[in-house]
Amino acid sequence: MASLISLSLLVILLLTTLSPTPTLCYDNPAVARVQQVGTGTSVQRTYIILVESPGTNADEGEHRRWHESFLPSLHTASGDPRLLHSYTEVFSGFAAMLTHTELEVVATKSGFVRAFPDETMTLMTTRTPEFLGLRKGSGFWSDAGYGKGVIIGLVDTGIDATHPSFDDHGVSPPPARWKGSCKAARCNNKLIGAKSLVGGDCRDDFGHGTHTSATAAGNFVTGASAYDVRVGIAAGIAPGAHIAMYKMGDSTDMSVVLAGLDAAIKDGVDVISLSLGMDKSYKFDLNPIAIGAFSAVSKGIIVVCSAGNKGPEMGSVENDAPWFLTVGAGSVDRSFGAGVHLTNGRHIDGDALNQVGKFDSKPHPLLYTDEGRYCEYKDDHTITGKIVVCEINDDIDTQEPSIIDIIGAGAAGVVLANDKTSGYSTILRGEYNSSVVQVSAADGGVLKAYVESASSSMATLTYNNTLLGVGPAPVLAWFSSRGPSSISPGVLKPDILAPGLNILAAWPKNLINAPGPFEIQSGTSMASPHVSGVAALIKSSHPDWSPAAIKSAIMTTSDAHDNTGGPIMDEQHRRAPAYATGAGHVNPTQANDPGLVFDLGVADYAGYICELLGDHALSVIVRNSSMTCKNLPKISEVQLNYPTITVPMKPTPFAVSRTVTNVGPAESAYKAKVDAPKSLTVRISPETLIFSKVGEKKTFSVSVSSHGMEGHKRFVEASLRWVSEKHIVRSPIVVVANLGRSPPKHWTV
Ligand SMILES: *[C@@H]1O[C@H](CO)[C@@H](O)[C@H](O)[C@H]1NC(C)=O
Ligand SMILES: *[C@@H]1O[C@H](CO)[C@@H](O)[C@H](O)[C@H]1NC(C)=O
Ligand SMILES: *[C@@H]1O[C@H](CO)[C@@H](O)[C@H](O)[C@H]1NC(C)=O
Repeated sequence: MASLISLSLLVILLLTTLSPTPTLCYDNPAVARVQQVGTGTSVQRTYIILVESPGTNADEGEHRRWHESFLPSLHTASGDPRLLHSYTEVFSGFAAMLTHTELEVVATKSGFVRAFPDETMTLMTTRTPEFLGLRKGSGFWSDAGYGKGVIIGLVDTGIDATHPSFDDHGVSPPPARWKGSCKAARCNNKLIGAKSLVGGDCRDDFGHGTHTSATAAGNFVTGASAYDVRVGIAAGIAPGAHIAMYKMGDSTDMSVVLAGLDAAIKDGVDVISLSLGMDKSYKFDLNPIAIGAFSAVSKGIIVVCSAGNKGPEMGSVENDAPWFLTVGAGSVDRSFGAGVHLTNGRHIDGDALNQVGKFDSKPHPLLYTDEGRYCEYKDDHTITGKIVVCEINDDIDTQEPSIIDIIGAGAAGVVLANDKTSGYSTILRGEYNSSVVQVSAADGGVLKAYVESASSSMATLTYNNTLLGVGPAPVLAWFSSRGPSSISPGVLKPDILAPGLNILAAWPKNLINAPGPFEIQSGTSMASPHVSGVAALIKSSHPDWSPAAIKSAIMTTSDAHDNTGGPIMDEQHRRAPAYATGAGHVNPTQANDPGLVFDLGVADYAGYICELLGDHALSVIVRNSSMTCKNLPKISEVQLNYPTITVPMKPTPFAVSRTVTNVGPAESAYKAKVDAPKSLTVRISPETLIFSKVGEKKTFSVSVSSHGMEGHKRFVEASLRWVSEKHIVRSPIVVVANLGRSPPKHWTV
């Protein structure tokens, strides 16, 4: 399948050359294991270099001078400055232009820690607040002031500052602690920060940053529409929150993203929203974004990331460190309804972004041919007056013009069926002017069979306009990346599911081919800002909660079921695995009042890093010289106090423990309830938790054994619910064969 990105206008970002895989990594003082980069040792490229801190009280100028002291000269032979970015918050370090030979010299200097070659990252609404149970003027949404006082920082392509979604009516002035600045066409109480990391202004030439910002915190706009779709009031999830944009423009270089993270931390944002990922997974101490995010989280900032668009393969999840809140994508309950009505009486429901006002109600012959399977009918006049049935393929760039040609050649319409991979999960394509109806792969099969069996197969296309409350929803989007994490399979990833399929949100007005001030986009890029908005709402009503507590609240209160009452399904309408949905589908109102949270602090993560990656990784990621693995508690992956539970599949009981903190009523009692298949024995001890104070902690253990499962299944799922009078705190339990033994790459279910 095509990378989802290519469906949007971001193609250009993907086409930027991928740098060589950064297998290379230097550890001081061992510079011997140097690998060849580029075509020779004299080729210059960007390196990200971590160094020791120049001192706890060093100011920006001192940091910069310290960073410059590592360089052979301030300018390259061609006169360009070598130092591209000087980092103080994500870590002490810098990005600089160096040849391989020069890097070897840098690596011998005292204070050098590690170097990474720069890498290109990839970028991976508005019915969605209502679908998530948020209603204007009522309940938690308005009680939380729609995210009042909270600052969401996005590192993205820029922002169309004059867009109505970024009006500041009803938004309070930024809090006094805000240290950022705003350089945009319009700065106000909504858009309080705009900084370009690549020079120039902050406008958005791609649309991605405008769309994600508006999804997280766009203000209420009445009369939003795109194509022929009218949606009434559009709003982001936290319309009362502030936005700070850190523009990377057309650069998706990791060194630039790090500069954005660094500035966001320095300026004082509360939530960082990253709709970006890397091409492959790196151990967390070899991943500058994970290292930088750790710094943010240890300063109390929540970092929300996309899970990636590499589904449905298992083991494809990105941004998988446990300190990230990693978000997968699902559908919403809105359909741009259309259908195919067969003359044999059968009706097939589908979608059409371009709704034809009055479609000819006369039946037309249906046409399907093997040669035209992917909509190739160049100079073929047999299609005139017919409805052509064909299938999407991964070559959108050539398929789109072919479809336009079919309509241009006088076909009555096109029914575009999903392929096998996408199944029931339809990414709406808006590039057509009319008469294209999209249907599921299964319905595509029904149509082909009908054409092949009936002597004269006829149909009409029908249009139902925007339908709300359509079920089942959410359904997992086919492209949403799946776990397990290859780096840390003992921690379930992704964490949560949020809307990411066919999301309508703000779009820059200056872009060519813009359908209007709103655009429909799909991707986990669209899912993560929804959760950033939810995190802002919770931060607004619970300013003292840690990032891990807010994350736990979002996870343990999520929905395991769809709007028809069944378990959330995947793109093939099978039950979606926890490796795709994480804890479940985000439920903002419930997340504000979780009852109990699974909290985590720097020391917990540090103990986990020691067990998983060792002392050196600890010094690179946590960078606190008074912490060493010897003096830290040993925390294996499965014992990390995470809101989800992963255990190895064993015939004898295997136990993990968790500690919950009471954030609900002082006096509360919770009873454990387990849902597990017969093949598992799950015991919880103790089975009741009695609290008498807010903030009180209680520890329990979960012991799991499996019977006769070994060798039959890769994993089995169960769940634990702590139930009190007012709260349900749910944790999925994933029981995994060969956990941690063989790398769980590319599993199939
Ligand atoms: C739709 O597009 C085709 C091909 O570009 C064009 O020939 C046709 O006139 C268009 N129809 C409408 C209704 O705009
Ligand atoms: C759309 O309209 C057609 C024909 O008017 C009807 O048969 C079909 O059930 C409608 N679909 C939905 C999902 O409402
Ligand atoms: C480093 O770790 C020690 C021991 O856990 C802690 O007391 C101290 O606050 C930490 N320092 C920083 C800068 O976080």
